[in-house]
Amino acid sequence: MTARASLSFSKEKGAIPAIGFGTGAMTGGMSVEAVAAALKAGYRHIDTARKYGSEPAVGEAMRASGLKREDIFLTTKVSHESLRPADFARSVDESLAALKVDYVDLLLVHWPNPQIDVAEYMLALAKAKREGLARHIGVANFNIALLEQAIARCPEPLVVLQAEYHPYLDQSKLLAAACRHGLVFVAYCPLGRGRLFGDPVLAGIAQARGRSIAQIALRWLLQQNVAAIPFSSKPERIAENFNVFDFTLSEAEMSRISALKRADGRVANPAGRVPGGWD
Ligand SMILES: NC(=O)c1ccc[n+]([C@@H]2O[C@H](COP(=O)([O-])OP(=O)(O)OC[C@H]3O[C@@H](n4cnc5c(N)ncnc54)[C@H](OP(=O)(O)O)[C@@H]3O)[C@@H](O)[C@H]2O)c1
Repeated sequence: MTARASLSFSKEKGAIPAIGFGTGAMTGGMSVEAVAAALKAGYRHIDTARKYGSEPAVGEAMRASGLKREDIFLTTKVSHESLRPADFARSVDESLAALKVDYVDLLLVHWPNPQIDVAEYMLALAKAKREGLARHIGVANFNIALLEQAIARCPEPLVVLQAEYHPYLDQSKLLAAACRHGLVFVAYCPLGRGRLFGDPVLAGIAQARGRSIAQIALRWLLQQNVAAIPFSSKPERIAENFNVFDFTLSEAEMSRISALKRADGRVANPAGRVPGGWD
């Protein structure tokens, strides 16, 4: 296993598919049908977490799909409440049992916990990898300082940083830090949880190109070498969000979209969970 994970825009074996299906729905739980629709539409990267309660549905849809286990890049996460070593190992075991799989492709720390030293849970994360329970490991919702501490303290290479990213949130510094350390950046809430859909600039670019706003926002991420994990409950939108590999935004369009960043653009922001704040 190399220290670096690569991002795949085609069907390269073992790499991280650039579009994944998010299963952390805010309301209504996650249906087996939605995950099945994603696999049918061509998604081969599924994002779940112990906290979402979606692991059983994800596992069931994977088994029903008839796809081979190794054809799906599966991510799960350990919650900030389970970062002490014994809790951590139990959480990973529970995830694998709920998914009914022997390993995940990517295991992430879901959020940091200001009450626990990062070195402590980096050992637990590395242990899960060494035991073969995760092919790759990484972190989510870490700021730059914490990311650098985690990299320094983890005995195994971290390969992914997952964080909120969409046109309303400037993540240029965090993205540069992830690139500097050879990590793949995975954007969550890539559609700003629906906030982007009334945007006139995105609507104008979408109309000019005969695409949807969701497709424009996702393509903007992909062209920065960022993976995205959009969620939708609707099969037609699930398919639409995957259909972003056959067009290219111009430099001018990329710049116009980047200029949409706002000071209040963040949508996932649990108070006080990131030691030192976001920046
Ligand atoms: N690591 C973390 O801490 C963290 C935090 C948050 C999220 N995540 C991950 O990121 C995933 C995605 O984030 P998210 O679900 O919060 O937000 P999102 O993907 O940015 O937006 C989802 C919303 O957009 C709507 N939508 C999706 N596609 C659409 C389309 N083509 N046209 C119009 N509306 C569309 C969906 O509604 P409909 O269902 O009605 O289509 C849903 O309300 C989560 O599921 C989870 O896996 C991770």
